[in-house]
Amino acid sequence: MPISKLDLIQKQAGINLPLSANIKLLSTPYSMYGKTLSNRLVVQPMEGCDGTFDGEPDTLTYRRYKRFSNGGAAIIWFEATAIVNEGRANPRQLYINENTLDDFSRIVSEIKENSLHENGFEPLLICQLTHSGRYSKPFGTPLYQIAYNNPIFEKEKPIDKSRIVSDDYLMALEEKFGYAASLCEKAGFDGVDIKCCHRYLLCELLSAYEREGLYGGSFENRVRLYKNAIESALANTSNNFLTTSRLNIYDGFPYPYGFGVKKDGSITPDMTEPKRLVSLLYNDLGIKLINITMGNPYVNPHVNRPFDKGPYTAPEHPLCGVSRMMDLTKKVRSDREGLTVIASGFSYLRENSVYLASGAIESGVCEFAGFGREAFAYPNFAKDILNKGFMEKSRCCITCGKCSELMREGAVSGCPVKDSDVYMPIYKDKVMRNA
Ligand SMILES: Cc1cc2nc3c(=O)[nH]c(=O)nc-3n(C[C@H](O)[C@H](O)[C@H](O)COP(=O)(O)O)c2cc1C
Repeated sequence: MPISKLDLIQKQAGINLPLSANIKLLSTPYSMYGKTLSNRLVVQPMEGCDGTFDGEPDTLTYRRYKRFSNGGAAIIWFEATAIVNEGRANPRQLYINENTLDDFSRIVSEIKENSLHENGFEPLLICQLTHSGRYSKPFGTPLYQIAYNNPIFEKEKPIDKSRIVSDDYLMALEEKFGYAASLCEKAGFDGVDIKCCHRYLLCELLSAYEREGLYGGSFENRVRLYKNAIESALANTSNNFLTTSRLNIYDGFPYPYGFGVKKDGSITPDMTEPKRLVSLLYNDLGIKLINITMGNPYVNPHVNRPFDKGPYTAPEHPLCGVSRMMDLTKKVRSDREGLTVIASGFSYLRENSVYLASGAIESGVCEFAGFGREAFAYPNFAKDILNKGFMEKSRCCITCGKCSELMREGAVSGCPVKDSDVYMPIYKDKVMRNA
């Protein structure tokens, strides 16, 4: 679709995406932390739920990262990796600990060697560390560990109060994030992401306005675990190792259940607290790279990953979701000189995402464009953009939601449409048979 047609659609939807045909911007090198990255494309963390039950990468995990590392993106943001067993989102979520360290070292080496061989450079490789909080299912069924009761998420039946994690439990996690970060450095990752997004535990705490005690109420309390986990990661790793974060700047749920919203009961964004948080990360903690995202993949996926086909009819045009990602990302970063931002949510635009990625960089939204679902469907998207100057339409993600459906069914996840030999049989078996 040419830009002029996109412009027309935008006018109809009443939005104004930053689009640019200056796609050379995507192959402009970028220096940070003493490393020069050769392009501006990122593979966002995309969980395959396909590790071993002990938390090591397994056959499909190796296959996925081989495809990603062939693909030519300068940054590979390694998927959600649990720091404690009870905080795993599924029984096959990766889990870094002393017993799985060797296997993490192996996959890191393979990713780096493979990219060096294929693309002539090693990607910047960041490991995302997580505790899944209310979405923990380490044995396949929910093991709720919630920051507070939330009637929006607990419509059918409130979760028993005994499942609210205690201050002591949260305090103990601070150190565990630091320890896991030290293991990531040993495994050979270039950096670690203290994950604070998509309403997993640290992210849920950001909106714990009504929680009592050390981790609820005031801004300082709600960010306490996040801040202390980052400090612990910094303290437990060397100066050459990068500590960063993927952060929700807008949840899309009304106050008192959402972060980054007005306090009037609406879901209108208010960037006052997210800006304060970014300032804390940047000025107080020295975090110079932030990966920005929003929404919740379970309750409002149209905010997190605008789609054409999903579990419900979205209340807005998907381009409005993409536009929100761009607008709020630009707002929250302000003109913070020296901050490097990765923006999210590019896949909806398929082959036109090259124009959005270029426009986002040109207009100061971000320095890097991160692709999630596209990486599953079309792992060579970066190579094609950089070498051919375009993306093959027939290879692009069609935002049909099948990768998310697989995850929801507790199966391994990938793209049943564009990687059909492997994932369509699994989709037929796990999703269609149950439908
Ligand atoms: C199957 C699947 C797995 C995902 N796994 C992760 C993850 O491990 N960590 C994370 O922060 N986001 C995860 N995401 C979200 C993506 O990184 C990304 O933010 C989202 O898909 C929107 O970007 P896109 O439009 O480029 O797909 C996942 C999304 C999907 C569909």
